[in-house]
Amino acid sequence: MSHLVEELRERKTLDDQGLKALLESDDQSLEEDLFRNAREVAVAQFGREIWLRALIEWSNVCRNDCYYCGIRRSNQTLPRYSLTPNEILSSCDQAWKLGLRTFVLQGGENPAAAEALAPTVAEMRASWPEAAITLSLGELPFETYALLRRSGANRYLLRHETASPAHYSRLHPASMQLEHRLACLQELQRLGYRTGMGMMVGSPFQTTGDLIADIRLIEQVQPGMIGLGPFIPHPDTPLGSYPAGSATLTLRLYAILRLMLPQAWIPSTTALSTLHPDGRKAGILAGANVVMPNFTPASHRGDYALYAGKSAPAVEAEENLKLLIQEIESIGYHV
Ligand code: 5AD
Repeated sequence: MSHLVEELRERKTLDDQGLKALLESDDQSLEEDLFRNAREVAVAQFGREIWLRALIEWSNVCRNDCYYCGIRRSNQTLPRYSLTPNEILSSCDQAWKLGLRTFVLQGGENPAAAEALAPTVAEMRASWPEAAITLSLGELPFETYALLRRSGANRYLLRHETASPAHYSRLHPASMQLEHRLACLQELQRLGYRTGMGMMVGSPFQTTGDLIADIRLIEQVQPGMIGLGPFIPHPDTPLGSYPAGSATLTLRLYAILRLMLPQAWIPSTTALSTLHPDGRKAGILAGANVVMPNFTPASHRGDYALYAGKSAPAVEAEENLKLLIQEIESIGYHV
């Protein structure tokens, strides 16, 4: 076994030089070693079990103007929607009946609408007391985080996107600050949410040093969940002509983070499977242990266009889930 991989697995950390080598090496056998070890650690922790989360993209209305994101405020080509409480509840109902036990409500950053979501969250909590309710609604006033927590939400995903302030300012308008996002993450943890963070891999201007800063931040925060996927350009955004991030580099990051945080929940993301047809399976084989099938009502799925070509399954949620389970079983895992 490569000594770098061995050291990372044993000590759950590695110096910058070692991380750089793991991220940049073109040694195929080192990469295979990294993936195999990450997979072994994931299997030791979770068995060959993949956890499903029902993703409900509740609204594409967003006050932010991130330079990479297709649902940014300035993109006027996009029809905007928000699901009604009944649509949200019926998506949950469908997911619950198909055996899913975690609902993820994700949407653009819209504080007033997020606050207005509290009664729906409370209704979800009352209807499915055993379900986990995950929110992913961006940076909100702290009292809204508290309100949603009291209403029954227990997890929150807020990607930090990049841990380098200089890089952050090239991806976001000046009104957005990395510092504030990190303060939100801290507050979410304080309120008792299980929190998730993460970054885009291969976003424009990103260096290996930036990725190492991301790894260090995640190592320091020790989040319960880590969401990361490749950058994929969206033509109607300022960064729409930059190349997509690399699938391989994304997989290496799954593996490195799995070895550092053996207990973290790491989804094999939609962006990865958009980039590569076998991306989802490859993610699992590099240490990911979560998959998030889409339960957004079919009539709106196409409008949650974060990036170009985002796979919006043509088939209904139930059929899509069946295919997903087959895919997971084809590599010897189960749900
Ligand atoms: N490519 C890949 N991921 C993107 N996201 C937004 N835009 C893109 C893009 N062009 C990701 C961000 C955000 C999450 C909801 O989607 O990381 O946090």
